[in-house]
Amino acid sequence: MSIPQPQNGTLRLGSTAPNFTADSSLGDITFYDYIGENWCILFSHPDDFTPVCTTELGAFAKLEPEFTKRGVKLIGLSVNDSDSHRAWIKDIDEITGSRLSFPIIADPERKIALLYDMIDYQDATNIDDKGVQLTIRSVFIIDPSHKIRLIMTYPASCGRNTAEVLRVIDSLQTSEKMGRKITTPINWVPGDDVIIAPTVSDNEASKLFPKFRSIKPYLRLTPLPKDSSNI
Ligand code: BEZ
Repeated sequence: MSIPQPQNGTLRLGSTAPNFTADSSLGDITFYDYIGENWCILFSHPDDFTPVCTTELGAFAKLEPEFTKRGVKLIGLSVNDSDSHRAWIKDIDEITGSRLSFPIIADPERKIALLYDMIDYQDATNIDDKGVQLTIRSVFIIDPSHKIRLIMTYPASCGRNTAEVLRVIDSLQTSEKMGRKITTPINWVPGDDVIIAPTVSDNEASKLFPKFRSIKPYLRLTPLPKDSSNI
């Protein structure tokens, strides 16, 4: 069987996140310059001055210090212009008690939205007053080598969960730190046991993770070692 290939331009996990230059609430931005050596969360919302989006942007802004601690930069996007973004940010801060300081990209021509496939097939509840699609609630986690590591897509009617986005960052960064020799189980949060990757033999596992236990040959759990310098 041949492996199905993405169509030209389709972004998948492992794809390189395309670079772009755009206007934003903080002026012109070149995406790769903004990311620098950091991780990045690029996320879109349907429309400024709307209720769910206001709660979401306020929540991301309030959690920004936790992302910063982990070397993660935030950047929003919608099809509104940058004057609209700047005016709306004042409302977001007033309503949610945030101090939103990350940029929100202005993409009225939907150039970046199309590049990143942030437009749905057609949700009739998510269109502007001219009937043109708005962006959906997309989240891209991008690593410092510009590889896409997570894609989430939520419908307009459902606000996202910032704790989940942070949890995925913790999972990805923990796995990286452990040389990708561990994965994380359902509902994992930092402090919980992790799974030893199938590529690690029992022999190697007993050296790297002396406290590991085997539930089945394919399911081996371990606390994270305090010192990971030998991994
Ligand atoms: C909202 O943020 O509440 C929203 C925006 C666009 C469509 C539906 C809901």
